[in-house]
Amino acid sequence: ATPVILDCDPGHDDALALLLAAADPRIELLAITTVAGNQTLDKTTMNARRICTAAGITGVPIAAGCGMPLVGELRVAPEIHGASGLDGPTLGEPTVPVVDEHAVALIHRILLDHPEPVTLVPTGPLTNVATLLRDHPEVAPKIREIVFMGGSTGRGNITPYGEFNVVVDPEAAEIVLRSGIPVTMCGLNVTHQALVTPDVLARFQRLDTDLARICIDLMTFFASAYENVFGLADPPLHDPIAVARVIDPSIVACVPAPVAVELDGTHTRGATVVDLHHRTAAPDNAGVAVRLDVDAFWDLVIGAVERLAPP
Ligand code: BDR
Ligand code: CA
Repeated sequence: ATPVILDCDPGHDDALALLLAAADPRIELLAITTVAGNQTLDKTTMNARRICTAAGITGVPIAAGCGMPLVGELRVAPEIHGASGLDGPTLGEPTVPVVDEHAVALIHRILLDHPEPVTLVPTGPLTNVATLLRDHPEVAPKIREIVFMGGSTGRGNITPYGEFNVVVDPEAAEIVLRSGIPVTMCGLNVTHQALVTPDVLARFQRLDTDLARICIDLMTFFASAYENVFGLADPPLHDPIAVARVIDPSIVACVPAPVAVELDGTHTRGATVVDLHHRTAAPDNAGVAVRLDVDAFWDLVIGAVERLAPP
C-alpha cells in the first residue's frame, strides 16, 4: 500500500476524500492533518474528527495545522460548505481526539521516521505543505509525490480564473509547484467530470447504512449550494479525485506541463497558468490531470463507503 498523509479542510468533498483514503486497501493512511480553508481551522479540525468518529476511523492521528494563509487574510466558503464547514448531516460529538502536535511537526516527524518516501495529498489550501517545505527543505527527498486538488487549466470557481484552494493561499501553491518534488495537480477541469448525479446518489442509497446516509446528506447539501451559487444541479465532488489518482493512476489521466501561479494579477491572483501546449519556454513542473474514468471513480468511492460500513 502507498503511505499517504491526507492534508484537508473538511469540507463536504474532503469528507469523502477522507473516507476513501481511510478505506481503500491500496493506501496506508499515516495521518490526517487539517488546515484553514473551507472554514476556520477549529471547524475543519472538528469536522475531520466528526467524520472519523461517524465512520469508525480510530487508528489514524489527526493534527491541526495552519490557521492562516502565508500572506493576507483567510477566506472561507460558507456559501458552499455552510457555517460549520460541513452542514447537512447530523453528526454527533466526536470521540476521536486531535493529537497535541502541530500538523507541520507531525508531517515532518512521519517523513523522518517512515522507512519509505510518503505521498502527500492536500485537498485544501497548501499552507501546511508549503510551511513544511519552507521550514524543513531537507525532507523533500522523503516526499514521494504531492498529489493535490486545486487549480484549473481553465476557469476558476471562487473567482473567474481562480480555484478556491489556490486563491486562499497562492504563495503556498507557488512554493509547492516550484519545489522540484513530483507534483500532480487535480484541478477543476478534471474534478468537474465527477458529478454527483441522481444515479450516483441512488447507488449510495442502495447501501442502506448510516454512513451512506451521512454521505447522501453531505452531497445533498453540497448540491443545493452548487445550485444556488453556480446553477449546477449535479455538483462536482472535487477532493476524492486526488486520492483516486494515488490509488489507481489509470483512473485520472495526466499530462506533464508547466504550471505557474499568478501572484500579482489585478483580476486573476491565484489563477493557475497551465501551458498545456508548451507555447512558452517554461519547463514542465507538474503532472496535470485532464481526464477521469468516471465509472471507475465512483466504484472506488462507493466501494470505500461500503467497506467502512458493510450493509
Ligand atoms: C476545492 O475548494 C473547496 O471548497 C473544496 O473542498 C475543494 O477542495 C474546490 O475548489
Ligand atoms: Ca477541500
